[in-house]
Amino acid sequence: MKLARNAILHSDTDRFALLYRLLWRQQSNPRVLEDRTDNDVRRLEELDRTVRRDSHKMHAFVRFRLVEDDAGEAEGEADSSEEGGGHYVAWFEPDHHIVRANAGFFKRRFANMNWSILTPKGCLHWDGETMRESGPARREDAPGGDPVEALWRKYYASIFNPARLKVGAMLKEMPRRYWKNMPEAELIPELIAGAQKRESAMVAAGELEFAERPDTLAAIDKVVHGCRKCPIGELENEAVMGEGPDDAALMIVGEQPGDQEDRAGKPFVGPAGQLFDAQLERAGIDRGAAYVTNTVKHFKYVMRGKRRLHQNPNAKEIDTCRWWIEAERAIVKPKLVLALGASAARGMLGKTVSISKARGAPIPLEDGSELWITAHPSYLLRLDGPARAEQERLFQADLAAVRQRLEELAG
Ligand code: URA
Repeated sequence: MKLARNAILHSDTDRFALLYRLLWRQQSNPRVLEDRTDNDVRRLEELDRTVRRDSHKMHAFVRFRLVEDDAGEAEGEADSSEEGGGHYVAWFEPDHHIVRANAGFFKRRFANMNWSILTPKGCLHWDGETMRESGPARREDAPGGDPVEALWRKYYASIFNPARLKVGAMLKEMPRRYWKNMPEAELIPELIAGAQKRESAMVAAGELEFAERPDTLAAIDKVVHGCRKCPIGELENEAVMGEGPDDAALMIVGEQPGDQEDRAGKPFVGPAGQLFDAQLERAGIDRGAAYVTNTVKHFKYVMRGKRRLHQNPNAKEIDTCRWWIEAERAIVKPKLVLALGASAARGMLGKTVSISKARGAPIPLEDGSELWITAHPSYLLRLDGPARAEQERLFQADLAAVRQRLEELAG
């Protein structure tokens, strides 16, 4: 009966035939409604769903406008609504015959107000005591703007949280066709355009605690630049975002961007990056197929004359920045993570390990992936002669093991 009650409200002209057919079929098969693969049953459920969605939109998107106060004056003060003074009129365009079925909802919600809801499918009028119905109305019968609209706009702008902005989801929830009757909707394009700026400002001001982890790399890229959770943020340079496929099997983690990476906005493009590229090529690992990133997202430096001199991040800075690398890992879900150097190893494990002891064997991570640790390429750059040759040999051996493991994991 519940399904039938909703289906009857649908504007499909075949709805009665469908209900009659199902009623008839129930005579010979009392369990017909339990068959979710049956075409009639599926259609019935679809009608029910659509009508419920239409009602939900009506509850959410009806916007009253004040047309006349008790003294008969048009366009009174907006806050007269508190005591129920004035007559409020809303225009709404339902897709289905849902107006009467929703009278109770609006009566309970706006019990002390004098209101009318006008729709092309019939109207409701409530005077605080009785509900009246009238026939279909036209858009022109409803009033234009009034001071209540300014309140709606203010309210909407104040609850709008740029950090939670998901345009696709918002459009799904609040389709464009409803916008024309919602005073706050005219703010939407402006709010979307300003969202990124506001969000970075909120991060900078420490207002945004990132309670919600960004769930795409693009979402991380949008906000990471404004991160001021550790003192490196005071330098006010942009973060360097990781790069590579968001489903890479291999994630390569460095320490932090250097001067050239900071200027280019890309990881591992300076001298250490060039050495690393050559070593990867030798080991037969395709950098383009890997997601390459850094433990610490901002370049930490001190000025020496006109030069920016690299400074190692301290343990606290690394630990603070782990939040970002964990967000990246949760998105990319690599099978294997290669950490370059002690900072990267700490960023992955949350504790300091010795490279010479940790290298050469996988460390299982809690998400089922494995961590491999090796030296940082800039360590190799600082060596020469036999020490450099020896370290390059160890580095190559580590990369070869990673490559072999990747092949095994690819099955
Ligand atoms: N060193 C790193 O750890 N990362 C870079 O991106 C560049 C140099």
